[in-house]
Parts: sequence; C-alpha cells; structure tokens
Amino acid sequence: MAGEKKLRHIGFIMDGNGRWAKSRNKPRAFGHRKGADTIEKVLTECFNQEVQVVSLYAFSTENWSRPKDEIDAIFDLLRSFLKKYTKTLMDKEIRLVISGDLSPIDKKLTEECINLVEKTKHFKEHVLNIALNYGSRAEIVRAVNLVKDKEGEITEEDLSKAFYTAELPDIDLVVRTSGEMRLSNFFLWQCAYAEFYFTDVLWPDFDGEQTKKAIEWFYGRKRRFGGIENA
Ligand code: IPE
Ligand code: IPE
Ligand code: MG
Repeated sequence: MAGEKKLRHIGFIMDGNGRWAKSRNKPRAFGHRKGADTIEKVLTECFNQEVQVVSLYAFSTENWSRPKDEIDAIFDLLRSFLKKYTKTLMDKEIRLVISGDLSPIDKKLTEECINLVEKTKHFKEHVLNIALNYGSRAEIVRAVNLVKDKEGEITEEDLSKAFYTAELPDIDLVVRTSGEMRLSNFFLWQCAYAEFYFTDVLWPDFDGEQTKKAIEWFYGRKRRFGGIENA
C-alpha cells in the first residue's frame, strides 16, 4: 500500500451553514438551504476528477440535539436534493449508499432513500455515500454486534465488512469547512490513514473551485502508510 497516490474516496464534513446564515441575520435554515446548493457543484467537480467515492456528512447522531424546526429543515432539504439529483444519479451512473440508522427517520424519506439505493446499486464507477443519522461509534458498536457470534477470532476484515461502507475503499481525504478541526464522529475507522484538509471557508461559500484546490493539495501530500519513501 505504501506510495499509493490515487484519490479514490473523499469525505466532506459540510460545516458552517448556521454561521453563514447568522452573519447575514437570517435563520439557520437559510444557511442550510444555501449549503444544499453547494453539494451539486462539489459532486460534479469530484466525479469529473475521477474520484470514485464521495461521502457527505449530512446529519450526525448528535445533531438530534438541535431544535426540531432546524432538523425538519435539514431533512426537507435532503428530500429535495435526492429528488433533484435522481436524474444525475441515473444518467451519470452514480451508486447511492446511505450510511446510518434510518429507523428514526421519516418513513417516506426512508422509502425514497432505499428505492434509490436499490435502483443504483449496480453502478460501479462512482458512488455517493450520504452519512445520515450517522455516528462512527454507533457504526462500530453495530458492526461488533453483527459479527459477535462468528466462530473464531474477529478480524479487521470482519469489522470492515460489517460497516455501512463495506464495499467502499477507505477515505483518502477528509475536507472540513468552517475552520473547525475535528472529526465529530465521522468515519473514525475509515479515516485511519486519511489526509485532512481544513479550510475557513463556510460550506455555503464552498464550491467546485475550492474542491479542486483541496484535491490539488491532496496530490501534493506524501503518504507513507507507516513505511518510508521510495522503499
Ligand atoms: C453543518 O452546518 C450542517 C449540519 C450539521 C447539518 P452547521 O449547522 O453545523 O453550521 P454551524 O457550525 O452552526 O455554523
Ligand atoms: C458535523 O458538524 C456534522 C455534520 C456536518 C452533519 P457539527 O456542526 O454537528 O459538528 P460539531 O458540533 O461542530 O462538532
Ligand atoms: Mg457545525
């Protein structure tokens, strides 16, 4: 694995919608709406640059602590995004994966998600992985429970296969907007050897150009995976 360069999987922690709205004296939902417009630009750039998988942190297991009207606004935006993006998923042959526990989520939205996941599951080249009601610790506990009755010792591979990301490569690059430098429970296992790109730009101001910059930065990194260069 040492020296492997290709950027196969980018994870975006889309942060800063609330601050973007606040600085304009607008409600937080306004920032989420503007933030939703960023998504398509970012995906277009990533897939044009031959990134295989893009993971988006849409809603964390901790985000339930927000006011109900904000939570409703986020889920409404997700529903409209999926509706609008369905044609692109089909035309560009992008597989949709949802990582997270859908059980507490509105049944209609859950059904729409499951239908799209099913309809796109044969696409191989590109994957859009949406982390929805996702928390890495919950995912790890879930995986342990799924494999615990296996005979013999549990291996890294057993756990990897029990994650929502079972069929996806590990994350190579994490991009977090809004100046925060933390993972906030985002794919802890899958980020074990990721590079981290932090920018002060708030998510609603992020775009294709900014994405390109992050990708260029990634290609300037020397990844050693514990080895030494030119070994
Ligand atoms: C990220 O923006 C979007 C979600 C968590 C869904 P925030 O809503 O966290 O924005 P800030 O961090 O409050 O500015
Ligand atoms: C992380 O952002 C979650 C998503 C982007 C969905 P948060 O805004 O919830 O994270 P913290 O609270 O700053 O750690
Ligand atoms: Mg935030």
